[in-house]
Amino acid sequence: MTDGYLWFEGLPFPSIDYSYEGLKEACTKFVIKDEDTVMVSYPKSGTHWLIEILCLIHSKGDTTWIRSVSIWDRAPWLEIDTGYELLKEREGPRFLTSHLPFHLFPKSFFTSKAKVIYIMRNPKDVLVSGYYYWTTTKFSKKPESLDQYFQWFLQGYVPYGSWFEHIRGWMSMRDRENVLLLSYEELQKDPRSTIEKICQFLGKKLNPEELDSVLKNSSFHVMKENKMSNLETLPETYVDKDFKITRKGICGDWKNHLTMAQAEAFDKLYQEKMAGFPKELFPWD
Ligand code: A3P
Repeated sequence: MTDGYLWFEGLPFPSIDYSYEGLKEACTKFVIKDEDTVMVSYPKSGTHWLIEILCLIHSKGDTTWIRSVSIWDRAPWLEIDTGYELLKEREGPRFLTSHLPFHLFPKSFFTSKAKVIYIMRNPKDVLVSGYYYWTTTKFSKKPESLDQYFQWFLQGYVPYGSWFEHIRGWMSMRDRENVLLLSYEELQKDPRSTIEKICQFLGKKLNPEELDSVLKNSSFHVMKENKMSNLETLPETYVDKDFKITRKGICGDWKNHLTMAQAEAFDKLYQEKMAGFPKELFPWD
């Protein structure tokens, strides 16, 4: 490691709590079980929001679990060393999280009945959210300016590599019945219906009061105050003082950050990289 990243299979990863051996083992040996539910995303796409929703659905709206156990323990990241250790020991139906691109995801998934929920988000918002995240964390390479991060993002020189490759890979799974594709934008626009859609996918039935509780307790403002979910318990070795996982929680924040020239350059690359994918698959312009 020379540039602040840990490199694995040609992709940059954060360098703390990740290891080459750990990634190799997670990608090639991790056994995904039929009863597992895996939340997959490119970083900054609303992963923690999705975890909170799933935990609340699982508890039928009861908040005991989300208020007493940290979010990374409820749904550990399978490719992070500490997450992998937790998962290896865990019995029964497990919640797992992963940002792995499709081609590195454990192959055991493909012969299992495990359910995957892939959450995606407008990549310009992912970019802006990522800029604030990686400038206030200590476990990966820090950008010096938004302009620099913008260039890195376009080149895929950011943790987990290119957004475009990530989404293209996972999109190939979209017709499988054990894969649900969701977007941050639809969760924002109609959280109730989207949560109902998740329940249906998971085969869970909630009564109206339980559903109300899921909705309320996974809302941005409630989650922001839940110290088991807002990552405020992360040690100083991982994050700076001004770090926030629940930063703004809106759609379209990129408009407050990217210049017109940056937005145009982004759109040009987007057209090239996403050619062949119907526009209707994505809920952003
Ligand atoms: P912003 O930085 O744009 O505010 P991830 O969990 O994949 O790291 O994504 C983090 C993004 O999801 C952040 O976006 C964060 O604010 C947003 N987020 C987290 N919880 C949310 C919630 N309950 N409702 C809406 N957005 C949420």
